[in-house]
Amino acid sequence: MFENLKLQSEDKIMALMSLYKADKRKEKIDLGVGVYKNNKGQTPIMDAVQKASRILNNTQKTKSYVGLSGNLGFIDNISQLVLADVVPKNQIIGAQAPGGTGAFHQLLLLIRSMEKDKRVWISSPSWPNHAAILNHLGIQFNNYNYFDYDTCEVNFSRMMSDLQKISPGDVLLLHGCCHNPTGANLSLENWTELTQFCEKKNILPLIDLAYQGFGDGINDDVKGVQYMASNLPEVCIGISCSKNFGLYRERVGAALMVVSDKKIHKLVEENLKSFNRVTFSFPPDYGASLVEIILGGNNSQDKELIHIWEKELNSMRNGMLELRKLLSDSLRRSTNSTRFDFIERHRGMFSLMGLSVDQVARLRTEFGIYMVGDSRINIAGLNKDQIDYFSSSIATVI
Ligand SMILES: Cc1ncc(COP(=O)(O)O)c(C=O)c1O
Repeated sequence: MFENLKLQSEDKIMALMSLYKADKRKEKIDLGVGVYKNNKGQTPIMDAVQKASRILNNTQKTKSYVGLSGNLGFIDNISQLVLADVVPKNQIIGAQAPGGTGAFHQLLLLIRSMEKDKRVWISSPSWPNHAAILNHLGIQFNNYNYFDYDTCEVNFSRMMSDLQKISPGDVLLLHGCCHNPTGANLSLENWTELTQFCEKKNILPLIDLAYQGFGDGINDDVKGVQYMASNLPEVCIGISCSKNFGLYRERVGAALMVVSDKKIHKLVEENLKSFNRVTFSFPPDYGASLVEIILGGNNSQDKELIHIWEKELNSMRNGMLELRKLLSDSLRRSTNSTRFDFIERHRGMFSLMGLSVDQVARLRTEFGIYMVGDSRINIAGLNKDQIDYFSSSIATVI
């Protein structure tokens, strides 16, 4: 019977990882996979996480089930981290989910169940799993132009002109910060304009927030999200703690709903719970409890952990900003042009370089430099010693 299964296309990033592993060249560089790496090429467990693990292991008394919405202390703390006090607590409904992917999936289940023909608008390009999950769930979607491949910046006027075709009740998917794959981000003015647009057209924003703290700062990165959440009656936010807490494999995420009409709170909450029940039942608790402890929840014994975590995250971000500066300076020298200056302006772990598929292939075969086919690089995959080699290789292929 299994022979009737359809062959699934291999994930491009996983395929790239296998090629990289098999490459014997010493000078090879992996800029493909979306995982933060330090200057030694490692993805260490954060100190705050190690300390929180010890606290959790010493204090947890049972491994019995938690509720269907997951760890409510975690939900409270993560809501506070993202929304601070801009939205009254009693307007936020949250459910834990396995990672940002799980949160996105659960929010889509909710959206799909509201109305059969709901249409989601996603940026072109976007994180490839957005379209894959929408397809998998049978939800219709349209693309809107987002990235200008000539300037490698956001083309906001084209985006807004595409969005003129959006219908009332449709869903607008936005990246909260640190856009993946482009690294080009909306300004606060753009967020303000989009908020007014959503209000006028009755559009539901669905915000994917996977990199808070990787761009300009833990608070600065959510200014746009906060503006939208405090000015619109309903907003959905899918949160990932994979990157900013380095908890990738623990699968920590949250689906947050900002709902100003209190009469429908119970409805939203019960729906989120019920979708959790039929998808994975209880969300994984271990990583969420670590985040709860770090951010200082009810069970927290050590309020110092949040400072340790902030310091670590700030140093990760500053490291990436330094790499951005060094790389754009080096590319300026090697190409004798300002073509790649956008790298310094981009934020987050990624930048889309605006290279052709052939140029990306040449970088891999001739120089052992691995990046995704659309020319997305993971800045954190570089270390300072490799920057000149990388930029001179780029200068050779362009
Ligand atoms: C834009 C975006 N959303 C969501 C995720 C999901 O992260 P995870 O499910 O690993 O928490 C990622 C991870 O790469 C991402 O880049």
